Amino acid sequence: MATPNGRVFPNLAALTTAAKQFVLEQARGAIAQRGRFTIALAGGNTPKPLYESLVGADTPWLQWHVFWSDERYVPLDHPDSNAGMAFRAWLHHVPIPRNQIHPMPTADADPQTAADRYGQLLRQTFGTPEGEFPSFDLILLGMGPDGHTASLFPQTTALTVSDRLITVGNKDGQPRLTFTVPLINHARQILFLVSGANKRTALRHIFSGTGDPSLYPARLITGNALWFLDEAAAEGVVEN
Ligand code: 6PG
Repeated sequence: MATPNGRVFPNLAALTTAAKQFVLEQARGAIAQRGRFTIALAGGNTPKPLYESLVGADTPWLQWHVFWSDERYVPLDHPDSNAGMAFRAWLHHVPIPRNQIHPMPTADADPQTAADRYGQLLRQTFGTPEGEFPSFDLILLGMGPDGHTASLFPQTTALTVSDRLITVGNKDGQPRLTFTVPLINHARQILFLVSGANKRTALRHIFSGTGDPSLYPARLITGNALWFLDEAAAEGVVEN
């Protein structure tokens, strides 16, 4: 695996400014070439200032189609909901048509049923036949201190799922819905947003190509990925 492509920023604010510009440029190019922009959002804390910064951005919102790369298995109004966070920070404040914003379904009693339903939604949206994977214009991802990304956690069965678009992740016994590794790797562009000193150890394994990928799942993301890191996370690991 080639050394990941990383850019280091002095702090989260600078990382967020660069990420905003990158996302809007990706949107401009996708809309110019294909008439729409398909983006999958990351959850967690790091991307929240990016979402807040997009409010008021000058972009053709009517051509944006928004999805999530993972979700906790909670209702949209639950404080832990990734989609709920993005709606409060951004999506309630921009004119993207609501039928073009697709939170993962978390009301089914059976998470695998919900995962399959979201997978079918993606196939319908992209016109992707069974056995093939759609290509998002942009997938945003974070990374946890343990090297997980989306809801692909270390030493879980979700890491090896290769015949589905969406699968059920597991964190401490709690189900999550997540993009699979092959779906992520099929994206035209992947952007990791990683901030904080607690990410340093995992980043070291990922950027040096050491350590079992099942222990550092972000190593499994071998697609067209760019990593935006703040200095706290990158110190001693990645030089600009
Ligand atoms: C989630 C995310 C998860 C997140 C990482 C990093 O549902 O929590 O998808 O993969 O991106 O845990 O989280 P922070 O950005 O909060 O460090």
